Amino acid sequence: MNKPLSPAAELHENVSVPFEKARAMPKSVYTSAEFLAEEQRHIFAQEWLCAGRAEALPEPGDYLTMTIAGEPVIVLRDREGTIRAMSNVCRHRMSTLLEGRGNVSRITCPYHAWVYNLDGSLRGAPAMTLNEGFCKSDIALPKVRCEVWLGWIMVTLNPDAPAPSERLAGVETLVGKYHMENYHEDFRESFRWATNWKVLAENFMESYHLPMCHNGTIGGHVDLLKMTCPEGEPAFNYHFILKNDALDLTLAHPTNTTLEGDERRTTWLLSIYPSLLITLSPGYFWYLSLTPDGPGHVNVLYGGGLAPEFVTDPKSRENFDRLKTLLDEVNMEDKGCTERVYEGILAGLSEPGPLSHLERPNFEFARYIASRIPA
Ligand code: FES
Ligand SMILES: [Fe+2]
Repeated sequence: MNKPLSPAAELHENVSVPFEKARAMPKSVYTSAEFLAEEQRHIFAQEWLCAGRAEALPEPGDYLTMTIAGEPVIVLRDREGTIRAMSNVCRHRMSTLLEGRGNVSRITCPYHAWVYNLDGSLRGAPAMTLNEGFCKSDIALPKVRCEVWLGWIMVTLNPDAPAPSERLAGVETLVGKYHMENYHEDFRESFRWATNWKVLAENFMESYHLPMCHNGTIGGHVDLLKMTCPEGEPAFNYHFILKNDALDLTLAHPTNTTLEGDERRTTWLLSIYPSLLITLSPGYFWYLSLTPDGPGHVNVLYGGGLAPEFVTDPKSRENFDRLKTLLDEVNMEDKGCTERVYEGILAGLSEPGPLSHLERPNFEFARYIASRIPA
């Protein structure tokens, strides 16, 4: 009897066909704990992940915490105003240090009160003078690479990863004129859904589901025949939608003189591998940043806000509140769709079917995953 293929081998086989014959990814890459461990090791521990927006940490001492491939990390703004990242594990007996988000003037371990400065250096440790091997100036929280790219806080455990500005240069070529770095986050929430992280990422990268899954909200305005899905790049895929004037915020503000022609009404959907999903329009943006939580759950950071011209416009508060309500409803529809998919993937009789030409980004994403995970 033939040995069953590993999930990675199944995936490599799945993406070896031309796009015209593409099928959805094999079920095992969504359900296998072993495959998730490979993803953690080869993808989440290697790539740049998004911790949110830089303007979410405006003051020195503002911090957030996250876990990257099992590694607890602190991201904070230091006294000099630089955003930096470091290990969130104490150098004494290895308790984790900070939780959630907040502001601190120094980092005090909740176990025996070793205290660290905002640059990670050890500031003090009670009752340690009699240990001859203890040298305060030798002790610091290990640094984690962190860069702010177009306003996004990007973090990686990989010392050799090319800088985001290099790896994602193609994003800047496409949407540099929108100056995402000047957009301002207005809301930020986190939640946990019962689906695999890739199901949610894939849901974001295709607009094929809009007419049906979103028929209660935005689906009615979508014409599938007018949709295009250009080829993506190794580090991201994208598609875009030309909007009408149904919603003020989807069009460039009259005082925005940088965007021209169709740029003024184009909404971009950028899927930055592995797990930063950005909707960028001339007036607003929203995003999801995903981290897997077991094969069957995903932790989601969900945020968004306005383009700078709208931030200063008194009318936009009300418009944005309406938009936020709509985004939340759309999000709930996506939750339903993606959780139903996961339920289906777990079924015995289910099987991945063929992809539409409107799901090209999904196939590119599958190829990206396969390129990272050895067969
Ligand atoms: S583990 Fe942090 S002070 Fe002991
Ligand atoms: Fe959706």
